[in-house]
Amino acid sequence: MTDQKGKLSPLLKQATGVTAAKGEGAYIIDPEGRRYLDFTSGIGVTSTGHCHPKVVEAAQKQVATMIHAQATTVMNPRLPELAEKLGELTPDPLNAFFFSNAGTEAVEGAIRLVRQATERPNIIVFHGGFHGRTMGSLSLTTSSVGLRAGVSPMMSGVVVAPFPHAFHYGWSEEEATDFCLRELDRIFVTYSAPKETAAMFIEPVQGEGGYVPANTRFMQGLRERCDKHGIMLVFDEVQAGFGRSGKFWAHDHFDVTPDAILIAKGLASGFPISALAASEETMAKGWPGSQGGTYGGNAISAAAAIATIDVIREEGLVENAERMGKRLRSNLESLKKDYPDMADIRGMGLMLGVEMRRGDAPDGERAGNILKECEKRGLLMLRCGPYQEIVRWLPPLIVNQEQIDEATRIFEEALNATA
Ligand SMILES: Cc1ncc(COP(=O)(O)O)c(C=O)c1O
Repeated sequence: MTDQKGKLSPLLKQATGVTAAKGEGAYIIDPEGRRYLDFTSGIGVTSTGHCHPKVVEAAQKQVATMIHAQATTVMNPRLPELAEKLGELTPDPLNAFFFSNAGTEAVEGAIRLVRQATERPNIIVFHGGFHGRTMGSLSLTTSSVGLRAGVSPMMSGVVVAPFPHAFHYGWSEEEATDFCLRELDRIFVTYSAPKETAAMFIEPVQGEGGYVPANTRFMQGLRERCDKHGIMLVFDEVQAGFGRSGKFWAHDHFDVTPDAILIAKGLASGFPISALAASEETMAKGWPGSQGGTYGGNAISAAAAIATIDVIREEGLVENAERMGKRLRSNLESLKKDYPDMADIRGMGLMLGVEMRRGDAPDGERAGNILKECEKRGLLMLRCGPYQEIVRWLPPLIVNQEQIDEATRIFEEALNATA
């Protein structure tokens, strides 16, 4: 027995100095009653805002009825209900779902499924991608060495291909796409033969790596190669999905249908739940018993997810994300004219990033200082990118025009305060 009080691990770093005593729509309120405009959405999670009354009501009702209907022991009636609703949103024939708790678990489920279904070992991922922090998903992650440092060796069978990040390469989108597709073909003859390649995993809009959208020709190029070689195409929509990009799925922008979709974050407005979606036929190729887990598909989270989908539909939140995303982008584009250190503005819908540079060099320090100045003025934001040089904007999908304009006004003050 120790008489020392327990504390949080010193490895847990918080991006802000704020204590969140209460959440209300687009705001976080601290114990002193100070209101912060929350443009982090808990890393893209609180899609319907904090504590949306319909989500709260659904969760409260479920808590009082049944909390832990363990999914591999009994039938939790919320799960088929949720699957039915999700099936209306996912593209055909992806209407079978495996539910788990976090994004990373959906990725792990997909790694197992693609290897079992194809009986092939290798997985191609794209440089800068983020897929999670558990050993399998971390092995697919190449957004920052900080995540991988000190934990190697990773899972084997992962091949990293270039992502068409035109701004990074300093090329046009056409040039970047040509290069990436050419390198992918080269991988098939130098590294991972098509017959040894189970799947490609890609974020349609890279998140942690720097808010970089893929493009239609690239995504269609992946689809063609997957079809030709019997490789599965898996879209990790954990961050960019569920309305955030201004369309329901980020891949809707590219007119390409994947073989599996990974869903989490915005799915239940803050309750932990994630899903792997695939066709029934593909799911049936997995190993019996390989999908499970103690808490996966928790009844409260599932009830909150059903309510979240209803709210997104009833309140037209995907359309709102598109409209407000346009407004935000246009505000930022106007600012860029006066602030050339805003080197690039990119992303989709309400998933936008502003890359800060000093001359040609990524400027993570400036981006960090901007966040501090924003926080002083009541706006919470996050950063991303390998140098933490990208200020990212991911407000809840309920955000309104006044809040967007207020946030950009604060951002401009922060630019001036850090110049
Ligand atoms: C695209 C993507 N995939 C997977 C994950 C992992 O999700 P989680 O943190 O819930 O495990 C994240 C988290 O940020 C993500 O952005």
